[in-house]
Amino acid sequence: MSDRWYSKAVVYCLDIDSFADSDGDGCGDIRGLIGRLDYLSRLGINCLWLNPIHPSPGKDDGYDVSDFYNVDPRFGTLGDFAELLHQAANRGIKVIIDLVVNHTSDQHPWFVSARSSPDSPYRDWYVWSETAPEDRKQGMVFPGEQDETWSYDRTAKLWYYHRFYKFQPDLNIENPEVRAEIKKICAFWLQLGVSGFRMDAVPFIIEKTEPGSPTAPMDFDFLSDLRQHVQWRKGDAVLLAEANVEPEKLVTYFGDEGGSSNRIHMLFDFMLNARLVLGLARQDTEPIIDALRDSPKLPDGGQWATFLRNHDEIDLSRLTAEQRKDVLDQFGPDESMQLYGRGIRRRLAPMLGNDRRRIELAYALQFSLRGTPVIRYGEEIGMGENLELEGRYAIRTPMQWNNLPNGGFSSADPKQVIRPVISGGEYGFETLNATLQRHDPKSLLSWFERMIRTLRETPEIGGGTCTHVDVPAPRGILVHRADADTGTMLFVHNLGTEDGVVDLSSLAAEADFPNDVLADQKYPEPGEFDKISVAGYGYRWIRMRRTA
Ligand code: GLC
Repeated sequence: MSDRWYSKAVVYCLDIDSFADSDGDGCGDIRGLIGRLDYLSRLGINCLWLNPIHPSPGKDDGYDVSDFYNVDPRFGTLGDFAELLHQAANRGIKVIIDLVVNHTSDQHPWFVSARSSPDSPYRDWYVWSETAPEDRKQGMVFPGEQDETWSYDRTAKLWYYHRFYKFQPDLNIENPEVRAEIKKICAFWLQLGVSGFRMDAVPFIIEKTEPGSPTAPMDFDFLSDLRQHVQWRKGDAVLLAEANVEPEKLVTYFGDEGGSSNRIHMLFDFMLNARLVLGLARQDTEPIIDALRDSPKLPDGGQWATFLRNHDEIDLSRLTAEQRKDVLDQFGPDESMQLYGRGIRRRLAPMLGNDRRRIELAYALQFSLRGTPVIRYGEEIGMGENLELEGRYAIRTPMQWNNLPNGGFSSADPKQVIRPVISGGEYGFETLNATLQRHDPKSLLSWFERMIRTLRETPEIGGGTCTHVDVPAPRGILVHRADADTGTMLFVHNLGTEDGVVDLSSLAAEADFPNDVLADQKYPEPGEFDKISVAGYGYRWIRMRRTA
């Protein structure tokens, strides 16, 4: 167990282009990030997930790769990247990168060659159809921005498949050469020193697409094969997958039935994400209790990755229409806050009305639930969104470091900066930035540091079992516990505005020198556990027992 570093990780996700610009060209870069590693180290995170770092025409913010074996020249060089890995390792921080191999950019030399001639060695690397597939208007991921999943290519005089945007042709996973190339890409970055991959769009990678048959069979063996390859090249490397699929299909991504995890190590818990947001919106713990109860038992070595916000919209598509409406009414009432008819393109702080108590409550809850917490850059200082920017760019504005021009993100002319830094009002860099919060022991940033440090003293969360404690409680109060061979933790979170009390005396016998290790305020000692009080939007992490 101790070797599974990912079960004790706190993952911080960032996009190099919007984090820190070292050379004043307006775009964040690797050297800028290196300069901020001490900040991340103090925050307490120990794993960085970098959004795509590869050369790209940038039509989908880097998720349209044109060379898998290099870094985007705007970010620096491979040399800078190797230096980043070294500097991060010096601080005990592992680095994982986005692996976007469902598709390439249409400007990738493979696709350029593939479309140019039937004799191209890359022709069969993509998915083609000679006739217009009947199902081409089905399965779009970006409704409103994408009209079809098969487009006609005039050069090839064929239709090609693209699950995502038209400029992202899908690779043909059934071709053994493509599989070999994906393994080679992984091996290359592992050799350089990354600790694993956040695998993009995994269900779509393994679908064996045929024109005219919208429900393609899935090739899970490829995941077993890739896992073996990755593990042989670097024993402790991890795969963290994006697979937003129905709950009953999830376990297959972790491994074959019955065995220990032999495919993906970690999956983002999209189901929990939507239920957490629903629970917060309704101030009701029921959806979260359901999520904990319904989530499948994972094979040994499998782990959830929890999150509240990521770089995409909050996807509410797995909620019922009524549930979705409740969330939108609370957190995204204006149409400009919504996206693709299923999601919210906002940061968490503005969704919660910038109520500091409620932001703490939400993150304390996420970080206390089973799995490995993942946090998006800027959330630790409570950044806002810019709804004037298109689509998901609203939540991809530059990091706010201080109150210098461009929030200290870049010394470039503001017109040259990749996206405007949020300025003015309650979320503007003038008053909301890392430096101001650093100097304030009561700031959200200081709170995040404390919370993350506490989590790291609490291995029961990432490595233990998490159970809902089923006792009578007001509808806003969630009680759950985490047990591992290191001890037991008890958590009380109040999603509602009313102060409340729960009777937890049935647990008193298990306690040994119980104490609040994190709480929104000072509470009376737990005593007999018969009157555990918690304020509106309050929370308590109680260490019940530590095993020697
Ligand atoms: C994933 C990414 C998203 C991207 C898409 C296509 O869903 O999270 O940002 O647009 O894949 O690569």
